[in-house]
Amino acid sequence: MVSKFANRVKNLAPAAVYEILKATTEGKAIPFSAGNPGFEAIPHEKIANVAAKILAENPNTALQYGMTEGFAPLRGKITEFLQKNLNISAEKNRLLVTHGATQAIELCAKAFCNEGDVVITENPSFVGTLATFSSYGINVAGVEMEHDGMNLDKLQEEFDKHEKVSFVYVIPDFHNPTGWTTSLEKRKRLYEMCLAKGTLILEDDPYGMLRYDGEKIPTLKSMDTEGIVLYVGSFSKLISPGLRVGFLLANDIYMDKITAAKQVSDVYTAMINQMIINRFMEDYGLEAHINEICGIYREKLQVALDSLDEHLGDYISYVKPEGGLYVYCKLPEHIDSIEFFKAGIEAGVAVVYGSAFSVDPDEKSQYFRINFSSPSIEQLKRGIEILGEVMRKF
Ligand SMILES: Cc1ncc(COP(=O)(O)O)c(C=O)c1O
Repeated sequence: MVSKFANRVKNLAPAAVYEILKATTEGKAIPFSAGNPGFEAIPHEKIANVAAKILAENPNTALQYGMTEGFAPLRGKITEFLQKNLNISAEKNRLLVTHGATQAIELCAKAFCNEGDVVITENPSFVGTLATFSSYGINVAGVEMEHDGMNLDKLQEEFDKHEKVSFVYVIPDFHNPTGWTTSLEKRKRLYEMCLAKGTLILEDDPYGMLRYDGEKIPTLKSMDTEGIVLYVGSFSKLISPGLRVGFLLANDIYMDKITAAKQVSDVYTAMINQMIINRFMEDYGLEAHINEICGIYREKLQVALDSLDEHLGDYISYVKPEGGLYVYCKLPEHIDSIEFFKAGIEAGVAVVYGSAFSVDPDEKSQYFRINFSSPSIEQLKRGIEILGEVMRKF
């Protein structure tokens, strides 16, 4: 039968992680698989409070159509927050509020890439983004991710191979899935290389504020004197993913087109959700809230690492993450990560096997990813103990 589908969705299928997520939301397994914030880290009562105030005091703005650029007071607060906490200047830049980081990334694909164009990503990388790029018919060239960031010699090889690269997509802080952080040296060199090549950088930073240890490293956007960095942020991991509020900050010269691209997608991001984030920042302060959740996650990470050392220490290795939501564990050579994953599910624990994040999904991976924010402390201890039992059977 002749396919009715367009080429752009031909290779699209529900990503493995989402299928695994389904199994865990059906209550079948301890969830080490999703990138969800912990239930206790989402400020439910405060959100209910501010939502009630908004609907009582300002129902028309909350429930009416809004501007594509976003709710002006929220844009102002995000701009201030970026300047104060990340030394990112809004000068010569413009901020667009989006439906999560996902939409900001999709808008960049839509605005900068024709079908067949090349984008470079770290390999492995965030599956959601890889699927977005696939849906635009983009050719993704993966460059090996190392403990201190992308292998830049291999990046140069890719630059030499392709005359035009639309952008380089990176997650410099507490990368998904590895939890690794790009060093300052590599950030500086990456920036210089992209500038020399005439390539944009898409910097995806949903985890940067979730640091539990070590020194903050400057974002690429904070070094961006030439306006080549498209900076993506999100409130999903900081306040609530259910509100679907993120943003894109990029050079003024790109923003008219990107804003028009959003307008044809969804006109604007739900006003009530933007107003909830805005009022939350106003009434409770985002920095104070981030401090609180960093305390929760610091403890959970320590429990995860202690349990991994106790039950899996003889078999796996990992680089201790200084923030974010993931630990990326390397299996012994003789164990296939998909087989390990399947045995985990059978025993009642869902991790994600490394190849689910590979640019080429047929690639072999020796890794599995654990999310430590979403399970409870008890689930972390019990789940990792079970993984130890599974491992011994191998
Ligand atoms: C690196 C990265 N970028 C973007 C997203 C999506 O974020 P949002 O919920 O804001 O769309 C995620 C979610 O896990 C992520 O890990």
